[in-house]
Amino acid sequence: MTYSLEGKNIALGVTGSIACYKAVDLASKLVQLQANVDVLMTDAALQFLTPLNFAAITHRPVVTSMFDPESELSINHVVAAERADLVAVVPATANSLAKIAHGRADDPVSATILATRAPVLVAPAMDANMFDNTATQANVRLLEERGVYIAGPAEGRMASGLVGKGRLLEPSELVGHIRILLGHGGDLAGRKIVVSAGGTREAIDPVRVIANHSSGKMGYAIAEAARDRGAEAVIVSAPTALPNPTGVKVVKVNSALEMGHALDVECTGADAIVMAAAVADWRVAEIADQKVKKSGANNWTIDLVKNPDLIAGIHAEKLVKVGFAAESEDLIENARAKIQSKGLHFIVANDITAEDAGFAVDDNRVIILDREGSVERLPLMSKYDVGVEVLDRVKPLLRGG
Ligand code: CTP
Repeated sequence: MTYSLEGKNIALGVTGSIACYKAVDLASKLVQLQANVDVLMTDAALQFLTPLNFAAITHRPVVTSMFDPESELSINHVVAAERADLVAVVPATANSLAKIAHGRADDPVSATILATRAPVLVAPAMDANMFDNTATQANVRLLEERGVYIAGPAEGRMASGLVGKGRLLEPSELVGHIRILLGHGGDLAGRKIVVSAGGTREAIDPVRVIANHSSGKMGYAIAEAARDRGAEAVIVSAPTALPNPTGVKVVKVNSALEMGHALDVECTGADAIVMAAAVADWRVAEIADQKVKKSGANNWTIDLVKNPDLIAGIHAEKLVKVGFAAESEDLIENARAKIQSKGLHFIVANDITAEDAGFAVDDNRVIILDREGSVERLPLMSKYDVGVEVLDRVKPLLRGG
């Protein structure tokens, strides 16, 4: 089962807003994620872009008219509507919102919406006053009541110079919303999955920290995979350079102790905790109030005290507990011992000395060991796919699952 966009048919309706150019970037991102993208354009969209902008990216014909004599031979709005797994209108102008809300079908985009049974996402883009207008607001409400997924708009500066709510969301956010909509009613719907991510930071003084090399990529990818299967996904995140994934709650923390407090809150009522964070084992015994000066010294010794084992200390009822083990030697034995000592259902072990997997890269090669003694060696795969594999093993352990 794939939860990625690979092979998904997405009908992308483009209507006439200055934000049209972002639809080209969106189409490109969707194609890179191996979706099949059928683009439909209104006459107004053709004022901003040509079909070639999209066809060069999607390698598919672009529908620009209801009456294209060629279309029966290739694709038309009905074909696109029928084969779509999802229809996205990006950008959606005030006029196109009104048309869709009232069931009009006089251009390829509105006709596709009327003809499809697939879930529909609409991403408004218009001047703030137009979005604010009672008529537009009523149209948005009407669409929401009918189950249309409204993505955005964002607040910010618009083409007119006005600042307000009406900006089209960024393409990467739109990809997130598309994934959320495709995951509605997925096999983890109704579940809350908490993931810890990143490397905790232990303060030494106001400017210095003890940190580690964890990038947070593994934990973020697991949370995205959970979101894409319909789960409520929460990341308790130590500092990372990663953007917050769309539709995932991110609780930011610094130290191991802060992470522990956040996990206590988030794990209450959760179904699973996947502990992908690299938690500092030690913290500074006394954090200095002021920056520590060299003052002619040639060495400096810092007293450290042990941090609590966070995952071992979580005892919420019926919570599935998954750990990670970063090992540089005796991987299997060390990982197995951690299942016991931390009360885990299973552990995901990775060899941190491998160059193509592990810290800071997009791929990982892991071994999954469980309480019953099974050892599964998975091939090198993306961290997202590792997330899918982990969640596949969490699912049968969930309460009532
Ligand atoms: N972990 C934790 N709290 C800690 C240390 C680790 O919850 N204070 C979690 C990690 O998030 C991971 C698992 O325990 O899921 C194993 O972490 P790892 O760093 O591999 O092992 P440690 O328990 O720190 O043991 P050691 O450093 O001796 O290998």
